[in-house]
Amino acid sequence: MIDFASGDAAIGVIGAGVMGRGIAQVALRGGLRVVIQDNRPGAAEQAARYVLERLERLVRKGELQAGEVAAMRERLVPLESLEGFAGCDAVIEAVIEDLGVKRAVLGELEGIVRPDCLLASNTSSLPIASIARVCQHRERIAGMHFFNPVPVMRLVEIVCGLDTSAATAEALATLARRMGRTPIQVKDSPGFLVNLGGRAFTTEALRLLQEGVGTPAQIDAILRDCGGFPMGPFELMDLTGMDVNYPVTRVVFEELQNDPRLRTTPHHKLLLEAGRLGRKSGAGHYRYDAEGRMVDPPSPDHGLAGAPAARAFVPEVDEGLVALLAEAGIEAFGHDVEDAPIVAAPLGEDASSFAARTGVDHRRLVALDLSGAIDRRITVMTVPGAEPAMQDAVAAALAATGRKVTTIKDSPGFVLQRVRAMIANLGAEMAQMGLAAPADIDLAMRLGLNYPKGPFEIAAEIGARETLLIMERLQAITGDDRYRPSLWLRRRALLGIPLDLPD
Ligand SMILES: NC(=O)c1ccc[n+]([C@@H]2O[C@H](COP(=O)([O-])OP(=O)(O)OC[C@H]3O[C@@H](n4cnc5c(N)ncnc54)[C@H](O)[C@@H]3O)[C@@H](O)[C@H]2O)c1
Repeated sequence: MIDFASGDAAIGVIGAGVMGRGIAQVALRGGLRVVIQDNRPGAAEQAARYVLERLERLVRKGELQAGEVAAMRERLVPLESLEGFAGCDAVIEAVIEDLGVKRAVLGELEGIVRPDCLLASNTSSLPIASIARVCQHRERIAGMHFFNPVPVMRLVEIVCGLDTSAATAEALATLARRMGRTPIQVKDSPGFLVNLGGRAFTTEALRLLQEGVGTPAQIDAILRDCGGFPMGPFELMDLTGMDVNYPVTRVVFEELQNDPRLRTTPHHKLLLEAGRLGRKSGAGHYRYDAEGRMVDPPSPDHGLAGAPAARAFVPEVDEGLVALLAEAGIEAFGHDVEDAPIVAAPLGEDASSFAARTGVDHRRLVALDLSGAIDRRITVMTVPGAEPAMQDAVAAALAATGRKVTTIKDSPGFVLQRVRAMIANLGAEMAQMGLAAPADIDLAMRLGLNYPKGPFEIAAEIGARETLLIMERLQAITGDDRYRPSLWLRRRALLGIPLDLPD
């Protein structure tokens, strides 16, 4: 088997669509020879022109030398049939996502290429073992899952099927590095790392919407400002489109035997069925103009009314809470103060459970989420039937510190605690399933989804015990197994050992 780290090597790309073109482009930049084929007449030729145009553009931007592109032109060969793939050291197929087509392509390829040529599939949802089933030499077949747009997205998941050899996985990881990518090895499992791990963020947001906790604009603002996510889950769903994210969510849920952790909501499906696909159709969770700009998104901020609170009863002392109240000019008391708000910072509990447990006057209870970044926005939550004046007074005092305030309906774990604990719990479960090592799971989520932190890093920030507590309380309060803690998380949190410690 050839070492792809340096020297001359030839790779084949089958399917000259969006992904095949991107793969050819990064392979050329890695110094490889590339043959590209498509069964649509003229498509390979057209793709080669497209790739060279993209590379010329990089010359104009000063990222490449004209001479380098001239050399790449020599190294790129478009073909109409697979016959010319005989000299390839590795072939990556990026044909349409159809099991029958992929099996047929790999089967035909086996009769053409050398016995030591590696075969990779860029499938995003089909099991590698299933694609490889028709082949004689399954040990040389693996997934090589690139992300769109390939030249921008550095991550490549190297997916090991049941029969993939360690040498094949290693060699393809080296090839990915040669193409300027960051390879991460993952076990053949529905959604691999990224398409599975990404389910927590969007489905928990949809669940919060279903419970009436907040609007898409409120939930997005909280996750951006307090969680550091570059985009909120509803904006993200609108960007990828319901026609893409609903089917992926459904397939991952069903293939993982209907694990309730991955369940989405009827509203998600309804948007798809109504043709509210997101930005591309002019409406999704938000509305868009013809240029794809959001039209009149509702404000996530609490409208200010009344005077700021000057005093509050703090039934459970919390350093962060006391400091915040002091900054907001609210004097904190350890005993009830007549007609003043009762302020708390619960973890994993809804305000109703907090009031019932502590016996405080629930109508005056104002709960604040202090779990994430609180320098720009604070989430405030009350019980059903709460006195609006209490929330208004606390919100006014907090707004006076320069922060935005978002007021939501009662929820165990507010918005941020719930979504982040779900991401952490799913990451832990992925480690428990042996899909990849914790550090690789973190890296995959950061590179593949643009998360500010991976699931294990999020859990470390919240605290492993605290993450477990949020999940346990969510499960107890909702009675829903969607929130059952991963055994990986549970064991390490109970023992106080590092969350990334292997089994
Ligand atoms: N687009 C994405 O965001 C994305 C991301 C990751 C992975 N993928 C996966 O990459 C693969 C390709 O996706 P895409 O978005 O580039 O699709 P695409 O429709 O843009 O391109 C597919 C190409 O394959 C060609 N083709 C179909 N049957 C063929 C055959 N038998 N032989 C040769 N060529 C054939 C088509 O003519 C077409 O040009 C799919 O498996 C998809 O799941 C896509």
